[in-house]
Amino acid sequence: MQILGIETSCDETAAAVVASGEAILSSVVASQLATHGRYGGVVPELASREHLRAIVPVVRAALEEAGTRYADLDAIAVTQGPGLVGSLLVGLTFAKSLSFALARPLVAVNHLEGHIHAVLVEARRSGRPVDFPALALVVSGGHTHMYEVTAGLGYRLLGRTRDDAAGEAFDKVAKLLGFTYPGGPVIDRLAPYGNPRAVRFTLARMKGNPLDFSFSGLKTAVLRWYEQHELDEEVARRRKLVAAVGRPTVAQWLEVTPQRTLDLIASFQWTVVEELLRRAAEAAEQCGARSIIITGGVASNSSLRREAASARLPLPVHFPTPHLATDNAAMIAAAAFAKLSRGETAALSIAAKANLSLA
Ligand code: KG4
Ligand code: ZN
Repeated sequence: MQILGIETSCDETAAAVVASGEAILSSVVASQLATHGRYGGVVPELASREHLRAIVPVVRAALEEAGTRYADLDAIAVTQGPGLVGSLLVGLTFAKSLSFALARPLVAVNHLEGHIHAVLVEARRSGRPVDFPALALVVSGGHTHMYEVTAGLGYRLLGRTRDDAAGEAFDKVAKLLGFTYPGGPVIDRLAPYGNPRAVRFTLARMKGNPLDFSFSGLKTAVLRWYEQHELDEEVARRRKLVAAVGRPTVAQWLEVTPQRTLDLIASFQWTVVEELLRRAAEAAEQCGARSIIITGGVASNSSLRREAASARLPLPVHFPTPHLATDNAAMIAAAAFAKLSRGETAALSIAAKANLSLA
Protein backbone atom coordinates (compact mmCIF):
# COMPACT_ATOMS: atom_id res chain seq x y z
CA MET A 1 0.00 0.00 0.00
CA GLN A 2 1.85 3.12 -1.23
CA ILE A 3 0.47 6.54 -0.39
CA LEU A 4 1.66 9.80 -1.92
CA GLY A 5 1.42 12.63 0.64
CA ILE A 6 1.28 16.30 -0.33
CA GLU A 7 1.72 19.18 2.14
CA THR A 8 1.48 22.89 1.27
CA SER A 9 -0.19 24.45 4.33
CA CYS A 10 2.43 27.10 5.04
CA ASP A 11 5.83 27.81 3.51
CA GLU A 12 7.17 24.35 2.64
CA THR A 13 6.17 22.52 -0.52
CA ALA A 14 6.45 18.85 0.42
CA ALA A 15 5.74 15.44 -1.10
CA ALA A 16 6.50 11.95 0.19
CA VAL A 17 5.78 8.30 -0.53
CA VAL A 18 5.06 6.11 2.50
CA ALA A 19 4.47 2.34 2.27
CA SER A 20 1.98 0.66 4.61
CA GLY A 21 1.95 3.68 6.92
CA GLU A 22 5.39 2.65 8.09
CA ALA A 23 8.23 2.85 5.59
CA ILE A 24 9.13 6.34 4.40
CA LEU A 25 10.31 5.65 0.84
CA SER A 26 10.93 9.33 0.13
CA SER A 27 10.32 12.73 1.72
CA VAL A 28 11.07 15.84 -0.31
CA VAL A 29 10.73 19.33 1.18
CA ALA A 30 11.26 22.53 -0.82
CA SER A 31 11.72 25.36 1.65
CA GLN A 32 10.68 28.91 0.79
CA LEU A 33 13.09 30.39 3.30
CA ALA A 34 14.91 32.37 0.64
CA THR A 35 11.64 34.04 -0.37
CA HIS A 36 10.25 34.94 3.06
CA GLY A 37 13.48 35.35 5.05
CA ARG A 38 13.98 39.00 4.17
CA TYR A 39 10.44 39.88 5.36
CA GLY A 40 10.94 38.23 8.75
CA GLY A 41 7.86 36.03 8.31
CA VAL A 42 5.72 34.22 5.77
CA VAL A 43 4.08 36.44 3.12
CA PRO A 44 0.91 34.53 2.10
CA GLU A 45 0.74 35.78 -1.51
CA LEU A 46 4.37 34.86 -2.14
CA ALA A 47 3.86 31.47 -0.46
CA SER A 48 1.10 30.36 -2.85
CA ARG A 49 3.11 31.55 -5.85
CA GLU A 50 6.12 29.54 -4.68
CA HIS A 51 3.96 26.45 -4.09
CA LEU A 52 2.69 26.72 -7.67
CA ARG A 53 6.27 26.80 -8.94
CA ALA A 54 7.45 23.91 -6.78
CA ILE A 55 4.58 21.43 -6.63
CA VAL A 56 5.23 19.53 -9.89
CA PRO A 57 9.02 19.13 -9.46
CA VAL A 58 8.65 18.24 -5.77
CA VAL A 59 6.06 15.50 -6.42
CA ARG A 60 8.19 14.15 -9.29
CA ALA A 61 11.26 14.09 -7.05
CA ALA A 62 9.34 12.23 -4.32
CA LEU A 63 8.25 9.56 -6.81
CA GLU A 64 11.73 9.24 -8.30
CA GLU A 65 13.42 8.98 -4.91
CA ALA A 66 10.94 6.28 -3.89
CA GLY A 67 11.44 4.40 -7.17
CA THR A 68 7.68 4.57 -7.69
CA ARG A 69 5.49 5.46 -10.66
CA TYR A 70 2.11 7.19 -10.54
CA ALA A 71 0.48 3.88 -11.48
CA ASP A 72 1.93 2.18 -8.37
CA LEU A 73 0.26 4.59 -5.96
CA ASP A 74 -2.75 3.36 -3.98
CA ALA A 75 -3.98 6.70 -2.67
CA ILE A 76 -3.28 10.43 -2.69
CA ALA A 77 -3.15 12.16 0.71
CA VAL A 78 -3.20 15.90 1.19
CA THR A 79 -3.36 18.51 3.94
CA GLN A 80 -6.84 20.08 3.96
CA GLY A 81 -6.10 22.52 6.81
CA PRO A 82 -5.40 24.35 9.02
CA GLY A 83 -3.05 26.75 7.23
CA LEU A 84 -2.92 29.59 4.73
CA VAL A 85 -5.84 29.11 2.39
CA GLY A 86 -3.97 30.19 -0.76
CA SER A 87 -1.18 27.73 0.07
CA LEU A 88 -3.50 24.85 1.00
CA LEU A 89 -5.37 25.32 -2.29
CA VAL A 90 -2.29 24.57 -4.39
CA GLY A 91 -1.68 21.18 -2.77
CA LEU A 92 -5.35 20.30 -2.54
CA THR A 93 -6.09 21.11 -6.19
CA PHE A 94 -3.04 19.17 -7.34
CA ALA A 95 -3.98 16.17 -5.16
CA LYS A 96 -7.56 16.18 -6.42
CA SER A 97 -6.37 16.25 -10.04
CA LEU A 98 -4.03 13.31 -9.42
CA SER A 99 -6.76 11.38 -7.60
CA PHE A 100 -9.15 11.94 -10.51
CA ALA A 101 -6.64 11.22 -13.27
CA LEU A 102 -5.25 8.06 -11.60
CA ALA A 103 -8.62 6.90 -10.25
CA ARG A 104 -7.14 6.55 -6.75
CA PRO A 105 -8.86 7.59 -3.50
CA LEU A 106 -8.21 11.03 -2.06
CA VAL A 107 -7.52 11.22 1.70
CA ALA A 108 -7.82 14.59 3.46
CA VAL A 109 -5.55 15.04 6.48
CA ASN A 110 -5.56 17.62 9.26
CA HIS A 111 -2.08 19.19 9.50
CA LEU A 112 -1.99 18.75 13.30
CA GLU A 113 -2.90 15.08 13.02
CA GLY A 114 -0.03 14.85 10.55
CA HIS A 115 2.41 16.24 13.15
CA ILE A 116 1.20 13.60 15.64
CA HIS A 117 1.71 10.84 13.05
CA ALA A 118 5.28 12.04 12.45
CA VAL A 119 5.93 10.49 15.86
CA LEU A 120 3.65 7.45 15.52
CA VAL A 121 5.23 6.34 12.21
CA GLU A 122 8.74 6.42 13.68
CA ALA A 123 7.68 4.83 16.97
CA ARG A 124 6.23 1.83 15.11
CA ARG A 125 9.46 1.31 13.21
CA SER A 126 11.78 1.82 16.16
CA GLY A 127 10.12 -0.94 18.17
CA ARG A 128 9.29 1.63 20.88
CA PRO A 129 5.57 2.06 20.15
CA VAL A 130 3.52 4.81 21.77
CA ASP A 131 1.32 3.71 24.70
CA PHE A 132 -2.23 5.05 24.67
CA PRO A 133 -3.90 7.13 25.88
CA ALA A 134 -1.14 9.59 25.00
CA LEU A 135 -0.85 13.29 25.67
CA ALA A 136 0.14 15.06 22.44
CA LEU A 137 1.64 18.54 22.52
CA VAL A 138 1.77 20.06 19.02
CA VAL A 139 4.09 23.09 19.05
CA SER A 140 4.80 24.89 15.82
CA GLY A 141 4.82 28.34 14.24
CA GLY A 142 1.06 28.32 13.94
CA HIS A 143 -0.09 26.06 16.78
CA THR A 144 0.32 25.25 20.44
CA HIS A 145 -2.31 22.61 21.14
CA MET A 146 -2.58 19.71 23.60
CA TYR A 147 -4.72 16.67 22.86
CA GLU A 148 -5.53 13.41 24.52
CA VAL A 149 -4.98 10.72 21.86
CA THR A 150 -6.79 7.42 22.35
CA ALA A 151 -5.75 4.01 21.00
CA GLY A 152 -8.39 4.29 18.27
CA LEU A 153 -6.80 7.62 17.23
CA GLY A 154 -9.57 9.77 18.66
CA TYR A 155 -8.60 13.27 19.79
CA ARG A 156 -9.80 15.46 22.66
CA LEU A 157 -8.55 19.04 22.95
CA LEU A 158 -7.18 19.72 26.45
CA GLY A 159 -5.61 23.15 26.00
CA ARG A 160 -4.40 25.61 23.40
CA THR A 161 -2.74 28.97 23.10
CA ARG A 162 -4.99 31.96 23.53
CA ASP A 163 -2.70 34.25 21.54
CA ASP A 164 0.68 33.50 19.92
CA ALA A 165 1.90 29.99 19.15
CA ALA A 166 5.19 29.02 20.84
CA GLY A 167 7.08 29.06 17.51
CA GLU A 168 5.57 32.44 16.71
CA ALA A 169 6.93 33.76 20.02
CA PHE A 170 10.42 32.50 19.07
CA ASP A 171 10.08 34.12 15.63
CA LYS A 172 8.79 37.48 16.93
CA VAL A 173 11.39 37.79 19.69
CA ALA A 174 14.17 36.89 17.24
CA LYS A 175 12.89 39.47 14.75
CA LEU A 176 12.70 42.16 17.45
CA LEU A 177 16.32 41.46 18.41
CA GLY A 178 17.56 41.57 14.81
CA PHE A 179 18.05 37.82 14.25
CA THR A 180 17.00 35.97 11.08
CA TYR A 181 13.75 34.13 10.35
CA PRO A 182 12.79 31.55 11.51
CA GLY A 183 13.89 32.63 14.95
CA GLY A 184 13.55 29.29 16.77
CA PRO A 185 16.71 27.63 15.41
CA VAL A 186 18.82 30.79 15.95
CA ILE A 187 17.68 31.23 19.56
CA ASP A 188 18.20 27.49 20.14
CA ARG A 189 21.83 27.73 18.99
CA LEU A 190 22.65 30.95 20.88
CA ALA A 191 20.85 30.18 24.17
CA PRO A 192 23.64 27.89 25.50
CA TYR A 193 25.92 30.96 25.62
CA GLY A 194 23.59 32.77 28.04
CA ASN A 195 22.41 32.29 31.62
CA PRO A 196 18.81 31.03 31.57
CA ARG A 197 18.13 32.34 35.09
CA ALA A 198 19.49 35.86 34.49
CA VAL A 199 16.12 37.43 33.57
CA ARG A 200 13.14 36.22 35.60
CA PHE A 201 10.02 36.36 33.47
CA THR A 202 6.63 35.81 35.07
CA LEU A 203 4.99 32.54 34.10
CA ALA A 204 1.50 32.91 32.60
CA ARG A 205 -1.41 32.17 34.92
CA MET A 206 -4.52 31.20 32.98
CA LYS A 207 -8.01 32.08 34.11
CA GLY A 208 -10.59 29.52 32.97
CA ASN A 209 -8.80 26.50 31.53
CA PRO A 210 -5.45 26.21 33.38
CA LEU A 211 -4.14 24.02 30.53
CA ASP A 212 -4.33 26.89 28.01
CA PHE A 213 -1.15 28.72 27.02
CA SER A 214 -0.34 32.39 26.51
CA PHE A 215 2.88 33.81 25.09
CA SER A 216 1.94 37.42 24.36
CA GLY A 217 2.82 38.57 27.91
CA LEU A 218 6.30 37.06 27.58
CA LYS A 219 6.76 38.75 24.21
CA THR A 220 5.77 42.11 25.74
CA ALA A 221 8.16 41.54 28.66
CA VAL A 222 11.00 41.01 26.17
CA LEU A 223 10.00 44.23 24.40
CA ARG A 224 10.06 46.10 27.71
CA TRP A 225 13.50 44.69 28.50
CA TYR A 226 14.65 45.83 25.04
CA GLU A 227 13.45 49.38 25.70
CA GLN A 228 14.98 49.52 29.18
CA HIS A 229 18.34 48.37 27.88
CA GLU A 230 18.27 50.50 24.73
CA LEU A 231 19.18 47.79 22.29
CA ASP A 232 18.72 49.84 19.09
CA GLU A 233 22.44 50.05 18.39
CA GLU A 234 23.32 46.37 18.77
CA VAL A 235 20.18 45.35 16.83
CA ALA A 236 21.28 47.65 14.00
CA ARG A 237 24.69 45.91 14.04
CA ARG A 238 23.01 42.50 13.68
CA ARG A 239 20.80 43.72 10.84
CA LYS A 240 23.91 45.04 9.08
CA LEU A 241 25.56 41.66 9.50
CA VAL A 242 22.49 39.93 7.99
CA ALA A 243 22.52 42.36 5.05
CA ALA A 244 26.19 41.51 4.49
CA VAL A 245 26.28 37.73 4.90
CA GLY A 246 22.65 36.51 4.67
CA ARG A 247 22.56 33.79 7.31
CA PRO A 248 25.28 34.39 9.91
CA THR A 249 27.06 31.54 11.68
CA VAL A 250 26.93 31.21 15.48
CA ALA A 251 30.44 32.71 15.71
CA GLN A 252 29.34 35.71 13.65
CA TRP A 253 26.21 36.24 15.79
CA LEU A 254 28.33 36.07 18.95
CA GLU A 255 30.56 38.88 17.67
CA VAL A 256 27.60 41.29 17.55
CA THR A 257 25.63 40.01 20.56
CA PRO A 258 26.67 41.13 24.07
CA GLN A 259 26.36 38.85 27.08
CA ARG A 260 23.25 40.58 28.46
CA THR A 261 21.36 39.76 25.25
CA LEU A 262 22.56 36.17 25.29
CA ASP A 263 21.25 35.99 28.87
CA LEU A 264 17.94 37.43 27.69
CA ILE A 265 17.67 34.84 24.90
CA ALA A 266 18.51 31.97 27.25
CA SER A 267 15.97 33.21 29.81
CA PHE A 268 13.28 33.62 27.17
CA GLN A 269 13.82 30.05 25.90
CA TRP A 270 13.90 28.71 29.47
CA THR A 271 10.52 30.34 30.13
CA VAL A 272 8.89 28.94 26.96
CA VAL A 273 10.18 25.43 27.74
CA GLU A 274 8.96 25.76 31.34
CA GLU A 275 5.47 26.86 30.17
CA LEU A 276 5.23 23.95 27.74
CA LEU A 277 6.47 21.20 30.04
CA ARG A 278 4.61 22.39 33.11
CA ARG A 279 1.27 22.19 31.32
CA ALA A 280 2.12 19.00 29.45
CA ALA A 281 2.84 17.29 32.79
CA GLU A 282 -0.40 18.62 34.26
CA ALA A 283 -2.45 17.59 31.22
CA ALA A 284 -0.88 14.11 31.13
CA GLU A 285 -1.82 13.57 34.74
CA GLN A 286 -5.33 14.86 34.19
CA CYS A 287 -6.11 12.48 31.33
CA GLY A 288 -4.25 9.50 32.76
CA ALA A 289 -1.83 9.42 29.83
CA ARG A 290 0.65 6.54 29.54
CA SER A 291 3.03 8.45 27.26
CA ILE A 292 3.70 11.91 25.88
CA ILE A 293 4.18 13.00 22.25
CA ILE A 294 5.87 16.34 21.58
CA THR A 295 5.82 17.32 17.91
CA GLY A 296 5.82 20.27 15.46
CA GLY A 297 8.65 22.64 14.52
CA VAL A 298 9.40 23.71 18.10
CA ALA A 299 9.91 20.02 19.03
CA SER A 300 13.34 20.44 17.38
CA ASN A 301 14.36 22.69 20.27
CA SER A 302 17.29 21.11 22.07
CA SER A 303 16.48 22.56 25.49
CA LEU A 304 12.88 21.30 25.24
CA ARG A 305 14.19 17.84 24.32
CA ARG A 306 16.75 17.80 27.10
CA GLU A 307 14.33 18.97 29.77
CA ALA A 308 11.56 16.61 28.63
CA ALA A 309 13.95 13.66 28.75
CA SER A 310 15.10 14.56 32.26
CA ALA A 311 13.04 13.59 35.28
CA ARG A 312 10.71 16.52 34.55
CA LEU A 313 8.10 14.36 32.87
CA PRO A 314 7.13 11.15 34.65
CA LEU A 315 6.21 9.30 31.43
CA PRO A 316 8.02 8.09 28.31
CA VAL A 317 8.31 11.06 25.91
CA HIS A 318 8.38 10.64 22.13
CA PHE A 319 9.89 13.28 19.82
CA PRO A 320 10.13 13.08 16.02
CA THR A 321 13.62 13.10 14.51
CA PRO A 322 14.35 16.72 13.48
CA HIS A 323 13.55 16.31 9.75
CA LEU A 324 10.08 15.00 10.67
CA ALA A 325 9.49 17.68 13.33
CA THR A 326 9.15 20.58 10.91
CA ASP A 327 6.59 20.51 8.09
CA ASN A 328 6.89 17.53 5.74
CA ALA A 329 4.61 15.27 3.71
CA ALA A 330 5.66 11.89 5.15
CA MET A 331 3.59 12.69 8.23
CA ILE A 332 0.60 13.43 6.00
CA ALA A 333 0.92 10.13 4.11
CA ALA A 334 1.36 8.27 7.43
CA ALA A 335 -1.78 9.84 8.91
CA ALA A 336 -3.67 8.99 5.72
CA PHE A 337 -2.82 5.29 6.05
CA ALA A 338 -4.76 5.09 9.34
CA LYS A 339 -7.69 6.95 7.77
CA LEU A 340 -7.71 4.79 4.66
CA SER A 341 -7.73 1.64 6.80
CA ARG A 342 -10.95 2.98 8.32
CA GLY A 343 -12.38 3.76 4.86
CA GLU A 344 -12.18 7.53 5.42
CA THR A 345 -11.72 8.89 1.93
CA ALA A 346 -12.62 12.40 0.76
CA ALA A 347 -14.84 13.64 -2.06
CA LEU A 348 -13.27 15.68 -4.85
CA SER A 349 -15.55 18.54 -3.80
CA ILE A 350 -13.86 19.17 -0.42
CA ALA A 351 -12.62 22.70 0.28
CA ALA A 352 -9.39 23.93 1.86
CA LYS A 353 -10.07 24.99 5.45
CA ALA A 354 -7.82 27.63 6.99
CA ASN A 355 -9.19 26.92 10.50
CA LEU A 356 -9.83 23.19 10.30
CA SER A 357 -9.89 21.82 13.85
CA LEU A 358 -8.87 18.35 14.98
CA ALA A 359 -11.10 18.20 18.05
O1 KG4 B 1 5.90 22.82 12.18
P1 KG4 B 1 6.57 23.96 11.48
O2 KG4 B 1 7.64 23.63 10.48
O3 KG4 B 1 5.53 24.84 10.72
C1 KG4 B 1 4.26 25.16 11.21
O4 KG4 B 1 3.32 24.33 11.07
O5 KG4 B 1 4.19 26.27 11.82
O6 KG4 B 1 7.15 24.92 12.63
C2 KG4 B 1 7.89 26.07 12.34
C3 KG4 B 1 8.19 26.79 13.66
C4 KG4 B 1 8.84 28.16 13.52
O7 KG4 B 1 8.15 29.09 14.34
C5 KG4 B 1 10.25 27.95 14.02
O8 KG4 B 1 10.84 29.10 14.61
C6 KG4 B 1 10.07 26.84 15.03
O9 KG4 B 1 9.09 26.00 14.46
N1 KG4 B 1 11.32 26.10 15.26
C7 KG4 B 1 11.98 26.10 16.45
C8 KG4 B 1 13.14 25.31 16.25
N2 KG4 B 1 13.15 24.86 14.96
C9 KG4 B 1 12.02 25.35 14.37
N3 KG4 B 1 11.68 26.69 17.62
C10 KG4 B 1 12.53 26.50 18.64
N4 KG4 B 1 13.68 25.79 18.54
C11 KG4 B 1 14.02 25.18 17.38
N5 KG4 B 1 15.15 24.46 17.28
ZN1 ZN C 1 3.34 22.35 10.97
